[in-house]
Amino acid sequence: MPETAAAGYDRKQQVKQFDDTKAGVKGLADSGITKIPRIFLHSREDLRKSSDHGDNSSSIKIPIIDLKDIVHGGLRREAVVAEICEASASWGFFQLVGHGVPTTVLDNLVEATRSFHEQDVGEKAKIYTRDDREKVKYSCNFDLYESNAANWRDTITIVFDGSLDPDNIPMVLRETIMEYRKHCLGVAKVVCELLSEALGLRLDYLRGMNCDKNQTLVAHYYPPCPQPELTLGTARHTDPAFLTILFQDGLGGLQILHQGRWVDVSPIHGALIVNIGDLLQLVSNDKFKSVEHRVLALPNGPRISVAMFLNPSSDEQKLYGPIKELLSDENPPLYREFLVNDYMVYYYAKGLTGTALSHFKV
Ligand code: OGA
Ligand code: NI
Repeated sequence: MPETAAAGYDRKQQVKQFDDTKAGVKGLADSGITKIPRIFLHSREDLRKSSDHGDNSSSIKIPIIDLKDIVHGGLRREAVVAEICEASASWGFFQLVGHGVPTTVLDNLVEATRSFHEQDVGEKAKIYTRDDREKVKYSCNFDLYESNAANWRDTITIVFDGSLDPDNIPMVLRETIMEYRKHCLGVAKVVCELLSEALGLRLDYLRGMNCDKNQTLVAHYYPPCPQPELTLGTARHTDPAFLTILFQDGLGGLQILHQGRWVDVSPIHGALIVNIGDLLQLVSNDKFKSVEHRVLALPNGPRISVAMFLNPSSDEQKLYGPIKELLSDENPPLYREFLVNDYMVYYYAKGLTGTALSHFKV
């Protein structure tokens, strides 16, 4: 644009130059730079630390839910359904413990992600792409060309849509990812059942909507940043998914926007973080909240996290909209019906920031 060109800054060209290195943010960090490139500078508003009310986020904690001993029809289960209902309605986020995924599987996941990102650039560059048709791809910022400011992280994305050949997953990750996915789907099933019950629906209701048919796994690598106060690891956003199951290592940096404040999601070793995505907020007619979150850039690292987004398949022909059973005269539909693919296309055209939900309001 003329203004930036006049200032001697051609963002698009600098983005392209960086993208062409295929070395990601890790390449920059490894080169020993002490100042981050301009394309990574975020606005002061985006970098806002906590809230206008002062920073006491450390005293607020997102809910922790223990799945140990839940059995169908048991007393403990009723309590957990109530906890999940409250957490999903007022926080949109909770940490799950007692989920049964062995800690070794989670530790291996972090190590395998590290191994992938710490390979020779040449090896990673083979799958560096922005082509959405690729089921396995490594890239830096899926919205690098759309966003106003780049994020300090690299990602390998694996789309499990039923047609993925696991042999296409890089060897350093393959076995670990497949093992983790198996466990993660088990947890997703239990969580979807509990969420269905929390909505007052049959236990198999949400899964009956094919809400976990497709899984997109993103394994992020956030290199140490020389100027962490000027950029972000991940800018504020909501997830364009039904549900997200996230594992983060012990470094911290993830924050959610809760009642106008950025609240830390403190690492708990072995816990899985679950958050409500836009699609679940929508079908629940706003009972459950898809909450904005972000990741701070850190001076130390790398920080590693792996998110599994659960979604209907993009070629699902069923129309999605607020669940009929939840609607009444007092609770009229807040959203119109649409195809999942239309939603995804809209979200990705818009880039990471902001929410796509308003586009589907009645
Ligand atoms: C995401 C996300 C958080 C993290 O991938 O959508 O919010 O801790 N990740 O990396
Ligand atoms: Ni997210």
